[in-house]
Amino acid sequence: MSRAALDKQPHEVAAMFDGVAERYDLTNDVLSLGQTRWWRRAVLCAVDPAPGQRILDLAAGTGTSSVPFQAAGAEVVPCDFSLGMLRVGRRQHPGLPFTAGDALDLPFADHSFDAVSISFGLRNVSDVGRALAEMRRVTRPGGRLVVCEFSHPVWRPWRTVYVEYLMRALPPVARRVSTNPEAYVYLAESIRAWPDQRGLARTIAAAGWSGVGWRDLSGGIVTLHRATA
Ligand SMILES: C[S@@+](CC[C@H](N)C(=O)[O-])C[C@H]1O[C@@H](n2cnc3c(N)ncnc32)[C@H](O)[C@@H]1O
Repeated sequence: MSRAALDKQPHEVAAMFDGVAERYDLTNDVLSLGQTRWWRRAVLCAVDPAPGQRILDLAAGTGTSSVPFQAAGAEVVPCDFSLGMLRVGRRQHPGLPFTAGDALDLPFADHSFDAVSISFGLRNVSDVGRALAEMRRVTRPGGRLVVCEFSHPVWRPWRTVYVEYLMRALPPVARRVSTNPEAYVYLAESIRAWPDQRGLARTIAAAGWSGVGWRDLSGGIVTLHRATA
């Protein structure tokens, strides 16, 4: 299978994640040098779910990003359009209500969630503005949005090292640990093409969200954007 091109044809993106599903979490942990665990804790703090609240974890993949919400006592719904990722997720977390659905046309009623979170998923959707508008539609008025996504390191020398060296080193490392190294060529290219913090904040606001703000993690390798419906 070839990697998904940067024009992000939905069937190619879904097929690419089907192909990496079995080793997705292991590869993530290796490539991020264990940083994903602390990024996920920061997402949980930003969403701040109260017991009983309904949280949509969109582009949930194998459900690793959903587990902290469930552990906090919330009712989390993991949703993804890769059946391969959902299959692995159901096996690993049989207690989670995995739901097949496309971010561009969510299978949920208006205002049905207290918060929507999307971790490392928004960069992969073919129409970011439409996905953000769909997320707003299913969030109750006053509800929260948290977007966790790779971003642009803020310190210029580090940004150069990250973009010019580490992103170029990613594909060869992935060849050793992943069943589909081409997916990690796509990962590196899609990170390089993604808007910076301010640019993404503008896109979130344009989709109708208010009070958009952000917090950089690991020097801006990852950024959490927050907003209110
Ligand atoms: C990098 S994984 C992130 C999984 C999980 N959120 C995590 O933090 O580990 C990105 C996920 O986005 C999903 N995805 C991409 N485009 C999507 C869309 N339009 N609708 C639903 N899921 C989508 C992919 O299938 C994949 O499982």
